[in-house]
Parts: sequence; structure tokens; C-alpha cells
Amino acid sequence: MSTVHITQITDLHLGSDKSETLGGVTTFDSFQSVLRATEEQGRGDNLLLLTGDLASDYQPEAYQLLNQTLVERDKKAIWLPGNHDDIAAMQANLSDYPHVRIYEAGNWGILLLDSSKPSSPSGHVSEKELFLAQQGLDQLTGKPVLVAMHHSPVPVKSEWIDKQKIENHQRLYQMLEAHGTVKAVVTGHVHQHHDSLWGDIPVYSSPSSCVQFEKHSADFALSDYPPGYRWLDLHADGSLQTGVEFLTDFTQRCDKSCVGY
Ligand SMILES: [Fe+2]
Repeated sequence: MSTVHITQITDLHLGSDKSETLGGVTTFDSFQSVLRATEEQGRGDNLLLLTGDLASDYQPEAYQLLNQTLVERDKKAIWLPGNHDDIAAMQANLSDYPHVRIYEAGNWGILLLDSSKPSSPSGHVSEKELFLAQQGLDQLTGKPVLVAMHHSPVPVKSEWIDKQKIENHQRLYQMLEAHGTVKAVVTGHVHQHHDSLWGDIPVYSSPSSCVQFEKHSADFALSDYPPGYRWLDLHADGSLQTGVEFLTDFTQRCDKSCVGY
């Protein structure tokens, strides 16, 4: 079987129309520019993995705008919710992209988890979600598995956002570790690239398609890094390669006086 090529795009923060901004950056423009960059870099046909905060504030119109954009550009895509999303609104408005919890491609399985917690920016995996995750893993027995979720289970060494890491990460880790063939976890939420290990499992956090957060910052702060994305090549032998790319020609600059989002 051949390699599965994935492009992770995360933390789009789209608004109800194309003029929405976050930290001074027009989020629809930056998302479109990221899509264009993936195409120019030969990844236009990759499966898109959208890892939450697809909307800035749960707006149904944001999901409609995303659905329309993906259809117009003839994209294959799977998604999961973040803390700025509403799963019912996503399911209702991402009409060409049904919600899936597992996705099988080539020799691999992708397990998509909901780590969002009602009315909180922090990560938490509910009892129901843990049950469904175990069911998904059981279906993927014997396959190498990529786990995707919005929140990070590990710190990224930024005090303010590390308080939002998945609260019950130990329970989730035990389940994933026991499965035996979980090869990596990819996350969003932290708006920065950060590679680390969660026990024996590599964790890859990824830059946002709009603004990035300052690395190693005690409090919220925006960074000069431009919009970006992550690519993952999942090989048939169960190994994977991954990397991040940042836009080199995006002219909008974030407003560094921004104090929150
Ligand atoms: Fe975000």
C-alpha cells in the first residue's frame, strides 16, 4: 500500500463573514493563503485534517463558509471540534463533510477525538468520549493509528496555555498506550509548532492558519510567525514523517498589542 499524505490545518477561527479578524489578521484570507500554499507545494490533493477552532465563536455561517470553500477547491477533509466550536452547528453546516470519529486510509487509521469541555478553554476527554475512543481503537486493531485532537496532552512550555492542556491526560494515555500501535498524536490549540513526547507517543502540535502565539510566554502574546500548516506522510510500514510550513508571502502582520482572544 502507498503512503497516505495528510495536511493538517488548524485553528482557522473563521467568522460569520470573510472580514473576521483575529489579532489583526483576516482569518479567511490567511486560510485561503494556506490552502494556496499547500497546492503550490504539491500537497493540493492531500486529505485535510482540520483540528478544531474552525470558527472563532461557534458561528453557523463560519462552518457554511468553510464548507463552501472546501467544496469549491475540491478538497477531501475530516475535522474535529475545538473550544471555539459547537459540534451540533458543525454537523449541521459542514454539510458536505460528515463528522467521522475514525477514518481509514491506506494501511492507517486516524482516530479523531473531541477534547473540548463545555464553557471552558481547557481540554478534557469526557467519559462518553473515552468510551467512543476505545470503540474506535478496537475497530482499528492491528493498524498503525494517528490520533488527532484539539488540545495538547503535554505542556508546550508556555505557562498560560499549559494550564489548558487535557486535564485527564493520564487516562487517555493509558488507553492509547494499551492499544499498542498508536504512532503519534497531532493537536492544535497552542497556535505554535511544538514536537514532544507523551510517554512513548510523539505529540506534534501545529501552527494556526491565522495568528501564532509567542513561544515560552508566561501570558498571552502574539508572535511574528506567519500562518502555517503541518504535513504528515503516513507510510505503509507504520512509520511517519512530518513537518511544518509557514507562508513566506503573506503580507498581513498581527497586532502585537492584542491581549487576548
Ligand atoms: Fe485556536
